[in-house]
Amino acid sequence: ASNETVATTDDGIRRRDFLDIAAVGTAAVGGAAVLLPLVSQMAPSKDVLAASSTEVDVSAIEPGQAIKAVFRKQPLFVRRLTPAEVQAANAAPVSSLRDPETLEERTKEGHADMLVTMGVCTHLGCVPLGAAEGEVKGEFGGYFCPCHGSHYDTAGRIRKGPAPTNLEVPEYEFTSDTVIQVG
Ligand code: FES
Repeated sequence: ASNETVATTDDGIRRRDFLDIAAVGTAAVGGAAVLLPLVSQMAPSKDVLAASSTEVDVSAIEPGQAIKAVFRKQPLFVRRLTPAEVQAANAAPVSSLRDPETLEERTKEGHADMLVTMGVCTHLGCVPLGAAEGEVKGEFGGYFCPCHGSHYDTAGRIRKGPAPTNLEVPEYEFTSDTVIQVG
């Protein structure tokens, strides 16, 4: 008789456990159903990020000056090169560069003095300093990364240090003579 009682009790416990688990499961599903729409409203979708673009008015940038903007949450450098900097960039023997690109290939036709690059070192992602802005003396007159010493030239091309490639030139276009749209 006592065996029967135990069996009944066990069965009762198992049923309660099942019911409790089922109740928790329902609550968790219900909670998730409530939370998910909130989360998806807070986080921008990949489509929104991919579609974002940045407009920069370059009319006020004098030769030798740069402005820093933000594109897709990362620093963007827009710099008007001086004639001497254009000359220096064109004088570099391209075939000897680690990531061979001419200044012409890195700028838009008719705007060879307007350099638009991401301000993100291609080594491990630090923000390089502008040698020409007097932030630091860069050996090649362009940008210097303080993290591990990568030097970029006046065309933003890697010349020395651990960075594997040139500063990235993002997709952009001139929407007028004085405005560029990046992205
Ligand atoms: Fe720029 Fe390492 S992150 S040199």
